[in-house]
Amino acid sequence: MTTRVYNEIIEISNSDTQNFWHKRAQNSDGLKAVLLGDDKNAHSKRNEKECRILMEQIKDLEELDILDIGCGIGRWAENLYGKIRNYTGIDYSKGFIKTAKERFREDENINFYEMSVCNMTPEILAQKYNLIICTGVLMYVNDSDLEQIFRKIRDFSPEYIHIQESISLMDGRLTLDNFESKELKSNYSAIYRTQAEYEQYFKDFDIIKTDLLLDDEIGGRKETNARYWIGRTK
Ligand SMILES: C[S@@+](CC[C@H](N)C(=O)[O-])C[C@H]1O[C@@H](n2cnc3c(N)ncnc32)[C@H](O)[C@@H]1O
Repeated sequence: MTTRVYNEIIEISNSDTQNFWHKRAQNSDGLKAVLLGDDKNAHSKRNEKECRILMEQIKDLEELDILDIGCGIGRWAENLYGKIRNYTGIDYSKGFIKTAKERFREDENINFYEMSVCNMTPEILAQKYNLIICTGVLMYVNDSDLEQIFRKIRDFSPEYIHIQESISLMDGRLTLDNFESKELKSNYSAIYRTQAEYEQYFKDFDIIKTDLLLDDEIGGRKETNARYWIGRTK
């Protein structure tokens, strides 16, 4: 059965979602694996745009100490490479963590850990970060886990946060619950929350820049888009 659920808070299966990402991690095209869709040109345009937007806002940071939550192949380690003092990436996909470790095996200051965002372990992550990044991850996390994730992010007191997420452009959220996606050739679950639903978690941050990310060329849709928020701890 395929399901699109409008306006209702329902839980998606964490294990199904983890399995979905486990399979994606076997894809040899890293950008395609994490950004989904088939259009290579759109992937690189989108990546460049995301990078440009973030770099513009964090110009004052000379050296970056980054925690990248749900890091995938370490796209942000690559995008910000020249400015990194220390980078920690966490992801619950064994395959992505393996690929990421291989890509940055020569860089002692760039480390990856297999870990769920719902279970971030302070013993490993007990450093000071001036930038916490979480892009394209929270739509796979249920509401019951979001509050504690943002509490942990706040506890790190990062100078900057960069959150980016697929959102619903409609009045209410859309949940794909084990939806049979022809495009992804897989069943797929994800929660497209509204902008307001996310913004209730940002009260400890001053949002300095937020906008929609995608236009028609790089994947904007009628009902959904991606929104980014760049904020500073108050
Ligand atoms: C759309 S990809 C984005 C990857 C990366 N943030 C980027 O922007 O390139 C989503 C990533 O989130 C990870 N992910 C989803 N749910 C997670 C969870 N509960 N804990 C850790 N990682 C998770 C997936 O394994 C996948 O790597």
